[in-house]
Amino acid sequence: MELAGTTAVITGGASGIGLATAKRFLELGANVVLGDIEPDALDEAVGALGPRCVGLAVDVAKEEDVISLRELAIEAFGGAQIVFNNAGVGGGPTIGTPKAVWDWVMGVNVDGVVNGINAFVPYFLERGQGWVVNTASLAGLGGVPDMGAYCASKFAVVGISESLHHELALASRGVGVSVLCPGFVSTRIFESQRNMPDELRDYNDAPSVREVNRIAEKVVKAGIDPSEVANAVANAVLGEHFWILTHERTALKTTELRLAWMRGGPPPGIDLERATKS
Ligand SMILES: NC(=O)c1ccc[n+]([C@@H]2O[C@H](COP(=O)([O-])OP(=O)(O)OC[C@H]3O[C@@H](n4cnc5c(N)ncnc54)[C@H](O)[C@@H]3O)[C@@H](O)[C@H]2O)c1
Repeated sequence: MELAGTTAVITGGASGIGLATAKRFLELGANVVLGDIEPDALDEAVGALGPRCVGLAVDVAKEEDVISLRELAIEAFGGAQIVFNNAGVGGGPTIGTPKAVWDWVMGVNVDGVVNGINAFVPYFLERGQGWVVNTASLAGLGGVPDMGAYCASKFAVVGISESLHHELALASRGVGVSVLCPGFVSTRIFESQRNMPDELRDYNDAPSVREVNRIAEKVVKAGIDPSEVANAVANAVLGEHFWILTHERTALKTTELRLAWMRGGPPPGIDLERATKS
Protein backbone atom coordinates (compact mmCIF):
# COMPACT_ATOMS: atom_id res chain seq x y z
CA MET A 1 0.00 0.00 0.00
CA GLU A 2 1.26 3.51 -0.84
CA LEU A 3 0.92 6.26 1.78
CA ALA A 4 1.25 9.32 -0.45
CA GLY A 5 -2.18 10.80 -1.11
CA THR A 6 -3.97 8.55 1.36
CA THR A 7 -5.75 9.67 4.53
CA ALA A 8 -5.02 8.03 7.87
CA VAL A 9 -7.30 8.36 10.89
CA ILE A 10 -5.30 8.03 14.12
CA THR A 11 -6.93 7.72 17.54
CA GLY A 12 -4.95 8.78 20.57
CA GLY A 13 -3.20 11.03 18.05
CA ALA A 14 -2.49 13.97 20.36
CA SER A 15 0.49 12.38 22.09
CA GLY A 16 2.96 9.52 22.25
CA ILE A 17 2.81 6.79 19.61
CA GLY A 18 -0.21 8.29 17.83
CA LEU A 19 1.38 11.72 17.44
CA ALA A 20 4.72 10.27 16.29
CA THR A 21 2.91 8.14 13.71
CA ALA A 22 0.95 11.15 12.48
CA LYS A 23 4.28 12.94 11.86
CA ARG A 24 5.69 9.92 10.00
CA PHE A 25 2.57 9.51 7.86
CA LEU A 26 2.65 13.22 6.98
CA GLU A 27 6.33 12.90 5.97
CA LEU A 28 5.33 10.04 3.67
CA GLY A 29 2.66 12.17 1.99
CA ALA A 30 -0.53 11.06 3.77
CA ASN A 31 -3.18 13.36 5.23
CA VAL A 32 -4.02 12.68 8.85
CA VAL A 33 -7.14 12.96 10.98
CA LEU A 34 -6.40 12.89 14.70
CA GLY A 35 -8.96 11.82 17.29
CA ASP A 36 -8.21 12.30 20.97
CA ILE A 37 -9.99 12.86 24.25
CA GLU A 38 -7.65 15.69 25.31
CA PRO A 39 -8.79 18.83 23.45
CA ASP A 40 -5.83 21.04 24.40
CA ALA A 41 -3.17 18.52 23.39
CA LEU A 42 -5.17 17.84 20.22
CA ASP A 43 -5.33 21.54 19.25
CA GLU A 44 -1.62 21.86 19.85
CA ALA A 45 -0.85 18.80 17.71
CA VAL A 46 -3.11 19.89 14.85
CA GLY A 47 -1.63 23.40 14.94
CA ALA A 48 1.91 22.03 14.84
CA LEU A 49 1.32 19.44 12.12
CA GLY A 50 -0.02 21.86 9.48
CA PRO A 51 -2.72 21.95 6.81
CA ARG A 52 -2.75 18.21 5.95
CA CYS A 53 -3.88 17.46 9.49
CA VAL A 54 -7.28 17.95 11.13
CA GLY A 55 -8.52 16.80 14.51
CA LEU A 56 -11.61 16.08 16.51
CA ALA A 57 -12.11 15.65 20.26
CA VAL A 58 -13.57 12.16 20.68
CA ASP A 59 -13.96 9.39 23.20
CA VAL A 60 -13.15 6.18 21.32
CA ALA A 61 -15.32 4.19 23.71
CA LYS A 62 -18.33 5.92 22.07
CA GLU A 63 -19.35 4.45 18.74
CA GLU A 64 -20.79 7.71 17.40
CA ASP A 65 -17.54 9.58 18.15
CA VAL A 66 -15.50 7.16 16.05
CA ILE A 67 -18.04 7.35 13.21
CA SER A 68 -17.63 11.13 13.31
CA LEU A 69 -13.89 10.66 12.68
CA ARG A 70 -14.70 8.80 9.48
CA GLU A 71 -17.12 11.56 8.46
CA LEU A 72 -14.48 14.20 9.16
CA ALA A 73 -11.95 12.34 6.98
CA ILE A 74 -14.49 12.28 4.14
CA GLU A 75 -15.34 15.97 4.57
CA ALA A 76 -11.74 17.19 4.93
CA PHE A 77 -9.87 14.89 2.54
CA GLY A 78 -12.49 13.05 0.47
CA GLY A 79 -12.17 9.69 2.25
CA ALA A 80 -10.00 7.47 4.45
CA GLN A 81 -7.73 4.55 3.58
CA ILE A 82 -6.05 3.81 6.94
CA VAL A 83 -7.35 3.64 10.49
CA PHE A 84 -4.91 3.38 13.39
CA ASN A 85 -6.94 2.28 16.43
CA ASN A 86 -4.33 3.38 18.91
CA ALA A 87 -5.92 5.29 21.82
CA GLY A 88 -5.29 3.42 25.05
CA VAL A 89 -4.94 3.65 28.81
CA GLY A 90 -3.14 1.71 31.52
CA GLY A 91 -5.06 -0.11 34.22
CA GLY A 92 -4.40 -1.77 37.53
CA PRO A 93 -3.48 -5.07 39.17
CA THR A 94 -5.66 -8.14 38.71
CA ILE A 95 -6.30 -8.28 42.47
CA GLY A 96 -8.17 -5.35 43.97
CA THR A 97 -8.94 -3.22 40.94
CA PRO A 98 -12.56 -2.04 41.10
CA LYS A 99 -14.85 -3.24 38.33
CA ALA A 100 -15.48 0.35 37.25
CA VAL A 101 -11.75 0.74 36.50
CA TRP A 102 -11.73 -2.54 34.52
CA ASP A 103 -14.73 -1.19 32.56
CA TRP A 104 -12.89 2.05 31.80
CA VAL A 105 -9.78 0.21 30.56
CA MET A 106 -11.80 -2.25 28.47
CA GLY A 107 -13.99 0.60 27.17
CA VAL A 108 -11.05 2.57 25.79
CA ASN A 109 -8.69 -0.25 24.80
CA VAL A 110 -11.17 -2.81 23.44
CA ASP A 111 -14.40 -0.94 22.59
CA GLY A 112 -12.23 1.73 20.99
CA VAL A 113 -10.78 -0.86 18.60
CA VAL A 114 -14.19 -2.46 17.96
CA ASN A 115 -15.69 0.96 17.20
CA GLY A 116 -12.82 1.66 14.80
CA ILE A 117 -13.37 -1.65 13.02
CA ASN A 118 -17.12 -1.10 12.74
CA ALA A 119 -16.74 2.47 11.51
CA PHE A 120 -14.03 1.77 8.92
CA VAL A 121 -13.84 -1.86 7.76
CA PRO A 122 -17.21 -2.03 5.92
CA TYR A 123 -16.36 1.37 4.38
CA PHE A 124 -12.94 0.04 3.24
CA LEU A 125 -14.45 -3.19 1.89
CA GLU A 126 -17.03 -1.27 -0.16
CA ARG A 127 -14.18 0.65 -1.79
CA GLY A 128 -11.83 -2.33 -2.14
CA GLN A 129 -8.98 -0.56 -0.34
CA GLY A 130 -7.91 0.04 3.24
CA TRP A 131 -5.62 -0.86 6.10
CA VAL A 132 -6.32 -1.23 9.82
CA VAL A 133 -3.64 -1.01 12.52
CA ASN A 134 -4.68 -1.96 16.05
CA THR A 135 -2.48 -1.14 19.03
CA ALA A 136 -2.03 -4.04 21.42
CA SER A 137 1.18 -4.53 23.44
CA LEU A 138 3.67 -7.16 24.61
CA ALA A 139 1.09 -7.34 27.42
CA GLY A 140 -1.19 -8.91 24.79
CA LEU A 141 1.27 -11.77 24.25
CA GLY A 142 1.85 -12.82 27.86
CA GLY A 143 0.45 -12.07 31.29
CA VAL A 144 2.24 -9.49 33.44
CA PRO A 145 1.82 -8.94 37.20
CA ASP A 146 -0.07 -5.79 38.27
CA MET A 147 -1.46 -5.28 34.78
CA GLY A 148 -4.52 -7.56 34.77
CA ALA A 149 -7.00 -5.19 33.18
CA TYR A 150 -4.44 -3.92 30.69
CA CYS A 151 -3.38 -7.47 29.74
CA ALA A 152 -7.02 -8.51 29.33
CA SER A 153 -7.63 -5.61 26.98
CA LYS A 154 -4.47 -6.16 24.95
CA PHE A 155 -4.99 -9.95 24.64
CA ALA A 156 -8.44 -9.01 23.31
CA VAL A 157 -6.91 -6.66 20.74
CA VAL A 158 -4.53 -9.38 19.53
CA GLY A 159 -7.42 -11.87 19.25
CA ILE A 160 -9.68 -9.41 17.45
CA SER A 161 -6.86 -8.53 15.05
CA GLU A 162 -6.08 -12.19 14.26
CA SER A 163 -9.78 -12.88 13.63
CA LEU A 164 -10.03 -9.80 11.45
CA HIS A 165 -6.95 -10.87 9.49
CA HIS A 166 -8.54 -14.23 8.66
CA GLU A 167 -11.89 -12.64 7.73
CA LEU A 168 -10.20 -10.09 5.47
CA ALA A 169 -8.02 -12.78 3.85
CA LEU A 170 -11.18 -14.75 3.05
CA ALA A 171 -12.93 -11.63 1.74
CA SER A 172 -9.92 -10.91 -0.51
CA ARG A 173 -11.06 -7.34 -1.20
CA GLY A 174 -7.88 -5.29 -0.81
CA VAL A 175 -8.19 -4.62 2.92
CA GLY A 176 -5.70 -5.78 5.57
CA VAL A 177 -4.77 -5.41 9.21
CA SER A 178 -1.67 -5.13 11.39
CA VAL A 179 -1.37 -5.50 15.14
CA LEU A 180 1.17 -3.39 17.00
CA CYS A 181 2.71 -5.12 20.04
CA PRO A 182 5.35 -2.83 21.55
CA GLY A 183 7.26 -3.22 24.79
CA PHE A 184 7.87 -0.02 26.69
CA VAL A 185 7.82 3.22 24.72
CA SER A 186 8.69 6.57 26.25
CA THR A 187 5.25 8.28 26.29
CA ARG A 188 2.74 9.52 28.85
CA ILE A 189 0.98 6.14 29.15
CA PHE A 190 2.05 5.94 32.82
CA GLU A 191 -0.08 9.06 33.38
CA SER A 192 -3.18 7.49 31.82
CA GLN A 193 -5.21 8.42 34.87
CA ARG A 194 -5.25 11.98 33.50
CA ASN A 195 -8.08 10.78 31.26
CA MET A 196 -9.98 8.78 33.87
CA PRO A 197 -13.61 9.71 34.50
CA ASP A 198 -13.75 12.03 37.54
CA GLU A 199 -15.71 9.55 39.66
CA LEU A 200 -12.85 6.99 39.46
CA ARG A 201 -9.99 9.32 40.40
CA ASP A 202 -9.89 8.37 44.13
CA TYR A 203 -8.68 4.95 43.01
CA ASN A 204 -5.28 6.47 42.16
CA ASP A 205 -4.64 7.49 45.77
CA ALA A 206 -4.40 3.90 47.06
CA PRO A 207 -0.76 3.12 48.08
CA SER A 208 -0.72 -0.08 45.98
CA VAL A 209 -1.80 1.86 42.89
CA ARG A 210 0.77 4.59 43.52
CA GLU A 211 3.47 1.91 43.72
CA VAL A 212 2.37 0.29 40.46
CA ASN A 213 2.32 3.72 38.78
CA ARG A 214 5.80 4.49 40.14
CA ILE A 215 7.23 1.31 38.59
CA ALA A 216 5.32 1.95 35.35
CA GLU A 217 6.80 5.46 35.10
CA LYS A 218 10.34 4.08 35.52
CA VAL A 219 10.09 1.39 32.82
CA VAL A 220 8.07 3.53 30.40
CA LYS A 221 10.63 6.35 30.61
CA ALA A 222 13.37 3.79 29.83
CA GLY A 223 11.47 2.68 26.75
CA ILE A 224 12.21 3.32 23.09
CA ASP A 225 11.39 6.58 21.34
CA PRO A 226 7.87 6.79 19.83
CA SER A 227 9.42 7.71 16.48
CA GLU A 228 10.84 4.13 16.28
CA VAL A 229 7.33 2.78 16.71
CA ALA A 230 6.00 5.23 14.12
CA ASN A 231 8.55 3.98 11.57
CA ALA A 232 7.59 0.40 12.28
CA VAL A 233 3.89 1.20 11.83
CA ALA A 234 4.50 2.97 8.52
CA ASN A 235 6.71 0.10 7.29
CA ALA A 236 4.07 -2.48 8.22
CA VAL A 237 1.38 -0.60 6.29
CA LEU A 238 3.69 -0.18 3.29
CA GLY A 239 4.82 -3.82 3.44
CA GLU A 240 1.37 -5.16 4.43
CA HIS A 241 2.69 -7.04 7.48
CA PHE A 242 0.43 -8.33 10.25
CA TRP A 243 2.75 -8.36 13.28
CA ILE A 244 4.47 -5.12 14.29
CA LEU A 245 7.01 -6.23 16.88
CA THR A 246 9.06 -3.19 17.83
CA HIS A 247 10.66 -5.25 20.64
CA GLU A 248 11.01 -8.36 18.53
CA ARG A 249 13.49 -10.27 20.72
CA THR A 250 11.31 -9.91 23.83
CA ALA A 251 8.11 -10.66 21.91
CA LEU A 252 9.52 -13.90 20.56
CA LYS A 253 11.09 -14.89 23.89
CA THR A 254 7.80 -14.22 25.71
CA THR A 255 5.99 -16.45 23.24
CA GLU A 256 8.61 -19.22 23.39
CA LEU A 257 8.57 -19.27 27.20
CA ARG A 258 4.77 -19.40 27.18
CA LEU A 259 4.83 -22.33 24.79
CA ALA A 260 7.37 -24.13 27.02
CA TRP A 261 5.06 -23.46 30.01
CA MET A 262 2.11 -24.97 28.10
CA ARG A 263 4.28 -28.03 27.41
CA GLY A 264 4.78 -28.57 31.14
CA GLY A 265 7.80 -26.37 31.78
CA PRO A 266 8.06 -23.71 34.48
CA PRO A 267 6.06 -20.44 34.30
CA PRO A 268 8.12 -17.64 32.77
CA GLY A 269 9.84 -15.23 35.14
CA ILE A 270 8.79 -11.64 34.47
CA ASP A 271 11.48 -9.00 34.15
CA LEU A 272 9.90 -5.72 33.06
CA GLU A 273 13.32 -4.16 32.36
CA ARG A 274 13.73 -6.68 29.52
CA ALA A 275 10.81 -5.06 27.73
CA THR A 276 12.32 -1.58 27.61
CA LYS A 277 14.82 -2.01 24.76
CA SER A 278 14.02 -3.36 21.33
N1 LIG B 1 4.01 3.51 25.98
C1 LIG B 1 4.13 2.19 26.10
O1 LIG B 1 5.06 1.68 26.78
C2 LIG B 1 3.16 1.28 25.39
C3 LIG B 1 3.50 -0.07 25.25
C4 LIG B 1 2.62 -0.92 24.60
C5 LIG B 1 1.44 -0.43 24.09
N2 LIG B 1 1.13 0.89 24.25
C6 LIG B 1 -0.14 1.36 23.70
O2 LIG B 1 0.10 2.42 22.80
C7 LIG B 1 -1.10 3.19 22.65
C8 LIG B 1 -0.75 4.66 22.72
O3 LIG B 1 -0.31 4.98 24.02
P1 LIG B 1 0.97 5.91 24.30
O4 LIG B 1 2.00 5.06 24.87
O5 LIG B 1 1.28 6.74 23.12
O6 LIG B 1 0.41 6.79 25.52
P2 LIG B 1 -0.06 8.30 25.60
O7 LIG B 1 -0.75 8.43 26.92
O8 LIG B 1 1.09 9.19 25.30
O9 LIG B 1 -1.11 8.42 24.41
C9 LIG B 1 -2.41 7.87 24.49
C10 LIG B 1 -3.37 8.85 23.84
O10 LIG B 1 -4.68 8.30 23.90
C11 LIG B 1 -5.58 9.33 24.28
N3 LIG B 1 -6.80 8.75 24.88
C12 LIG B 1 -6.93 8.17 26.10
N4 LIG B 1 -8.21 7.81 26.30
C13 LIG B 1 -8.89 8.13 25.18
C14 LIG B 1 -10.25 7.98 24.76
N5 LIG B 1 -11.18 7.43 25.57
N6 LIG B 1 -10.60 8.43 23.54
C15 LIG B 1 -9.68 9.02 22.73
N7 LIG B 1 -8.40 9.20 23.06
C16 LIG B 1 -8.00 8.74 24.27
C17 LIG B 1 -4.78 10.17 25.27
O11 LIG B 1 -5.31 11.46 25.44
C18 LIG B 1 -3.40 10.18 24.60
O12 LIG B 1 -3.24 11.27 23.70
C19 LIG B 1 -2.03 2.70 23.78
O13 LIG B 1 -2.99 1.83 23.22
C20 LIG B 1 -1.11 1.95 24.69
O14 LIG B 1 -1.81 0.97 25.43
C21 LIG B 1 1.97 1.75 24.87
